[in-house]
Amino acid sequence: MSAPSESQRMEKIVSLCKRRGFIFQSSEIYGGLNGAWDYGPLGVELKRNLKNYWWRVMVHDRDDVVGMDGAILTHPAVLKASGHVEGFSDPMIDCRTCKAHLRADQLVEKKGVKQCPNCGGRDLTDARQFNLMFETHVGASAEESSIAYLRPETAQSIFVQFKNILEVSRKKLPFGIAQIGKAFRNEINPRNFTFRSREFEQMELEYFCRPEQGMGLLEYWKEERLKFYGNIGLGRAKLHVLNVPDAERAFYSKGTYDIEYDFPFGRQELEGVAYRTDYDLSQHQKASGKSLEYFDEETKEKIVPHVVEPSAGVDRTVLAMICEAYAEDQAPNDKGEMESRIVLRLHPRMAPMKCAIFPLLKNKEPLVAKAKEVVALLRPQMTVFYDESGAIGRRYRRQDEIGTPFGVTIDFETLGEKDPTLRDTVTLRERDSMKQERVPIQDLPVILQERIR
Ligand code: GAP
Repeated sequence: MSAPSESQRMEKIVSLCKRRGFIFQSSEIYGGLNGAWDYGPLGVELKRNLKNYWWRVMVHDRDDVVGMDGAILTHPAVLKASGHVEGFSDPMIDCRTCKAHLRADQLVEKKGVKQCPNCGGRDLTDARQFNLMFETHVGASAEESSIAYLRPETAQSIFVQFKNILEVSRKKLPFGIAQIGKAFRNEINPRNFTFRSREFEQMELEYFCRPEQGMGLLEYWKEERLKFYGNIGLGRAKLHVLNVPDAERAFYSKGTYDIEYDFPFGRQELEGVAYRTDYDLSQHQKASGKSLEYFDEETKEKIVPHVVEPSAGVDRTVLAMICEAYAEDQAPNDKGEMESRIVLRLHPRMAPMKCAIFPLLKNKEPLVAKAKEVVALLRPQMTVFYDESGAIGRRYRRQDEIGTPFGVTIDFETLGEKDPTLRDTVTLRERDSMKQERVPIQDLPVILQERIR
């Protein structure tokens, strides 16, 4: 059998996500809302594991970072000062033939002539700027004065709260403020499953420093972030660092790296690591008239801190983890014959379910009772899935497909029926190697904790 093409692979991934409850089209029963996605029972666990791990390494494991959780509704003055009201736009072109709205960079060029990628039409409008922010109205009157925006990035609330957080946390430079939360962009053409959505989540750190530390910290954070992706199971060979050229960087940035990943639909950005200088704090200081300076007790100087920002997408990283993990291989069925299986080789730390627990037979009460004891032992420490229905091979297969790294089977040996020395031991099966080992039930929590941390 030949290997599937990358587009077939992507189709299989999308289908698995729906079939097994990772990701659904939002408002699906009404025809779907373009650019919005709902995470199902397994998707929400995967997403939480990612966010919790990011928070652990970026906030809890460090002395120099604190967190915050800002409002989504944003005062227009904030986004005027940041430049979003004026300039957060993409050039848009319409195809007069099929009426598609297109981002200018999505046109295809054949023999030097620009064409619509959907219908091949050449009757195209000129490019015009389309602001990506979602506008809404706060309060009962829909007047100009009541306009607010859904935030297009989480970063701005960090800049606007800089002074408050500095005062309460009493941190000294360099230090950071981290935030995970929703952001909204009215993308002209949402596509590639969840990759480009209109509603998505970001994990952002604004790391404030002295001007002379900026370039060094840009390198530091790029390396830290690459390590992070390795620790959640993304292979180094599929990760790339793009040093964004001067002409493509925001005018205020002195250096930006894009961390990219080889998705089945091409190499695309997962995260930006940008040295934004003192642009944001200076803009807000100017527009609000409030000091956002930092007083350095050693030098007795006041400065507007500079900032290095690693900004990652939650949904894109979840998608990258699923794409990386998706595999098809051969596994023995209950008769020992080899069959093809779908397996999600998710890093155990990220897997939605950590351990599946199976009584060998569901109609043997002592096996079921023992299996339920094992569930009760493990559940306080990890997500577990109890399954008693169907042949054991089929039950393994169902867990392989959702990426559960470990399976525990309770059999007659567990009951000590064949060999008393095996009483209260179980088979522990590992998803990727399919290797099985016999371990005492009482050791399971420690063994599993070590492997999923
Ligand atoms: N504060 C900086 C900032 O927002 P960005 O490069 O525009 O920078 C950061 O966004 C990250 O947010 C991206 O690398 C990506 O992972 C995620 N992101 C941006 N737009 C997105 C979209 N439409 N859908 C899903 N994720 C998106």
